[in-house]
Amino acid sequence: MWLKNQPHLHSLLGILVLFILVSTASAANRGSDILDKGRNITDGDTLVSADGSFTLGFFPPGVLAKRYLGIRFSVSEDAICWVANRDRPLTDARGALVISDTGSLFLLDSFGQVVWSSNTTGAASTTLQLHNSGNLVLSDGSANGAAIWQSFDHPSNTLLPSMKIGKNLWTREEWYLTSCASANDPATGKFRYITDGEGVPQNILLDGDKMIYRSGPWNGLRFSGVTEMTSYSDKFAYQLTRSSSEVTYSYVSKAEASFSRLLLTDDGVYQRLVWDPTSRLWKIFFQAPRDICDHYGRCGAFGLCNANAPSTSFCSCVQGFSPTSPVQWKMRDTSNGCRRKMVLDCGNGMSSTTDGFVVIDGVKLPNTHNVSVNASITLEECRARCLANCSCLAYAPLDLKGGGAGTGCIIWTEDLMDLRYVDGGQILYLRSTKSELDGPSVSMFPTGIVIGVSVALIIILVLLAFWVIITRRRHRMQRVLVHNGLRVTGGSDSHSPNPASPMTSVPTIDLHTIIEATGSFSDANKVVEEGFSVVYKGQLPGGTMVAVKRLKQSLLTDKGRQHFSREVEVMSTLTHVNLAKLLYYCREGDEWILVYEWMEKKSLNLYIFGEEGLRSSLSWAQRREIIRGVAIGVEFLHGRGFIHRDLKPANILVSDTWVPKIADFATAKLFIDEQTDLTLVQTRGYVAPEYIGEGALTYKCDVYSFGVVLLETVSGKRRTSNAMFLPDAWELWNQCKSGELLDVAVGGEPEGEVLSGLLRCIQIGLLCVQYLPEHRPSMSEVVAMLNNSSQLPRPLKPTPNSRPGPGAQPGPSRTFLLWLFCSCGRDPTSPGMEATV
Ligand SMILES: *[C@@H]1O[C@H](CO)[C@@H](O)[C@H](O)[C@H]1NC(C)=O
Ligand SMILES: *[C@@H]1O[C@H](CO)[C@@H](O)[C@H](O)[C@H]1NC(C)=O
Ligand SMILES: *[C@@H]1O[C@H](CO)[C@@H](O)[C@H](O)[C@H]1NC(C)=O
Ligand SMILES: *[C@@H]1O[C@H](CO)[C@@H](O)[C@H](O)[C@H]1NC(C)=O
Ligand SMILES: *[C@@H]1O[C@H](CO)[C@@H](O)[C@H](O)[C@H]1NC(C)=O
Repeated sequence: MWLKNQPHLHSLLGILVLFILVSTASAANRGSDILDKGRNITDGDTLVSADGSFTLGFFPPGVLAKRYLGIRFSVSEDAICWVANRDRPLTDARGALVISDTGSLFLLDSFGQVVWSSNTTGAASTTLQLHNSGNLVLSDGSANGAAIWQSFDHPSNTLLPSMKIGKNLWTREEWYLTSCASANDPATGKFRYITDGEGVPQNILLDGDKMIYRSGPWNGLRFSGVTEMTSYSDKFAYQLTRSSSEVTYSYVSKAEASFSRLLLTDDGVYQRLVWDPTSRLWKIFFQAPRDICDHYGRCGAFGLCNANAPSTSFCSCVQGFSPTSPVQWKMRDTSNGCRRKMVLDCGNGMSSTTDGFVVIDGVKLPNTHNVSVNASITLEECRARCLANCSCLAYAPLDLKGGGAGTGCIIWTEDLMDLRYVDGGQILYLRSTKSELDGPSVSMFPTGIVIGVSVALIIILVLLAFWVIITRRRHRMQRVLVHNGLRVTGGSDSHSPNPASPMTSVPTIDLHTIIEATGSFSDANKVVEEGFSVVYKGQLPGGTMVAVKRLKQSLLTDKGRQHFSREVEVMSTLTHVNLAKLLYYCREGDEWILVYEWMEKKSLNLYIFGEEGLRSSLSWAQRREIIRGVAIGVEFLHGRGFIHRDLKPANILVSDTWVPKIADFATAKLFIDEQTDLTLVQTRGYVAPEYIGEGALTYKCDVYSFGVVLLETVSGKRRTSNAMFLPDAWELWNQCKSGELLDVAVGGEPEGEVLSGLLRCIQIGLLCVQYLPEHRPSMSEVVAMLNNSSQLPRPLKPTPNSRPGPGAQPGPSRTFLLWLFCSCGRDPTSPGMEATV
């Protein structure tokens, strides 16, 4: 026979037959997912869940020195979800898993020694079953099959759907993930991923006992810092349970979802992995720490980390705070964090405190380990509660499930730690002094009063306060600031209890009308193309001329859309004679369009930098009124909590009657968060030095830009075409020759009152471009200076080296002396005139 001559083939066939017999027998015997008492699993045997998803067996496959008993995904041998004897490997392939007579599960080595045990005692008939969920369950075999022991209660480095991590508050039992020692060694590693139930529950990644990453508190929908969860919520349902008996986190896969797992890798990275059957690979859906800002406490207490802001080495302080140790901060050691610049006004109780709240939007909430929580009050009550308690530093809603601003209350009374921007993050309300809310303003006159001038100073302060009160009356309205994810609402001066008072809406206009108005966006109607948009001239059916600003399609990301809507809302609240008026907006398909009133004269730059003829059409008196109008417009913006950030003559439109209208304050920053480079919207020449240097964005940045615009408007010269423009202007002023700054095209030597008005105006411009923000006046001070004839402080030369050294701060006495005696810069020899120290 053929077979007889093929002994090798014969024995091979025999093995095959034997194999088939054995496997069918074992399947018939116990069902492939159940191990009965009295039977055992030896190396090479497996237990497979009924649907085949999971396999229990010895690994690593092949005969290696160390053997472990574990459960893995059947489709992916490397994806081991659970290991019984991770710290006590078997040394040969002769181990066995048995159910003992006492109903305990034993892993025995080749000598019959117990290497691992479930430490349980059960009934006489006990069975072990590997469920379709991947849970290995030892049950007493009774009808209800109550689990005596289950692998889900003893997580290794993997969280499977419907498995929990967290704490049983009655038994103090804890479940958490522990990393493996290394990729090839499942021994217990040093990283743990836990659910921390203190304060508001959050998940925490620990290296030993040190926190290295926080998911952020659970907000009813997701973890505050893991906004990615929204993106795959179609695949998973997340469950955070907080009851008197337990605080746990788990998730379940929705129908049809493929295999998934949460893995804590051996190098301390937490990953959400989903099996892609097509490529037969695990796809990473989420991973943490994901960037520099995820490292716990990267920017210290009250620091705010922005992963898109390398220009600030990713760290800044929250508004009203400055680095605790600026020297270390400069050396990239930001862990000391920030401290408050001005003390809070507190201790007066709710009725009289002047503190308010800065809104920090788009963040992962700070650590909630030690916060106070109340789930049953509204956000307004939360705010009142925070205002009434001096220890309250910040508050935020507890639960965002209901939509809107959220409900419930988290109150922070300790340092705010680990605050960062995240895409789609939430709002934190930070307690702040009134002066911060009003915008930095009083720092031109530092504290520390010298007796000789204190009386005079007090008089000034009283006048200032009086003036502030008057302005306050004028603007007793809700303030909202939206720029770069920061929003400010007014303090206790906004008496409206509901911060979300209804806004009038800008009407929409349909795309068809716009297409007709602009001749299908024809090139002939194109006025200007900017970074984010193209502006067309258009004529509406009624004959009204409009400027149509069409946002570039390539920039229309989801975030861009969100900001667009928000800007339209905000814009509708900003109506002022010195601001360009948004008439309509259009949002159809991929078209996102803003329609502004048309200015036939277009923008200021055409006149001040234009041809002689155009320049001479603008007299000094007209220029002065334009400057005044711009100042009033910017003051209005600041009063409403806005920073324009991109003031320049090209952004100042002029009406037929030469009324200036500030434009571009909505769209210029519309997409800012999409840009990693914050300076993109800043035009060189107009940016304040501290913003270029440290990204420190305050109202004073606008003041600086305004100063440049003022000096350019007077002189008709571009700062950008002359690096020494500002120092030269100062020199002229210092030599009492600043009249020469006036554009010659204006014609005629100014004299008398005109000249003194011009000199005063230039001096105000120079004050605005002071190198240090604290030496610049606030915008409302500028408006006041332009409107009256009070004494002006003496500007320092606007260069970096006029920065006073640390020991030589220009004290109030000196500032004041200069102010009294040297106001027009006529006397360069007088003591105290030295501008550079
Ligand atoms: C495992 O079962 C086999 C046969 O069912 C038996 O021969 C063997 O002794 C058992 N091993 C252990 C360690 O109980
Ligand atoms: C079982 O008990 C022993 C001794 O108390 C302990 O060392 C071991 O970790 C326990 N095993 C399990 C799986 O809990
Ligand atoms: C919470 O408060 C306790 C006791 O006051 C303190 O030891 C702990 O460091 C605080 N935890 C955090 C995260 O600040
Ligand atoms: C929450 O506030 C309400 C109303 O003041 C109060 O009745 C309740 O006891 C508070 N709950 C907790 C947990 O403090
Ligand atoms: C202020 O809040 C702290 C922390 O929640 C609390 O211990 C303290 O009793 C509160 N003080 C008042 C006056 O409510």
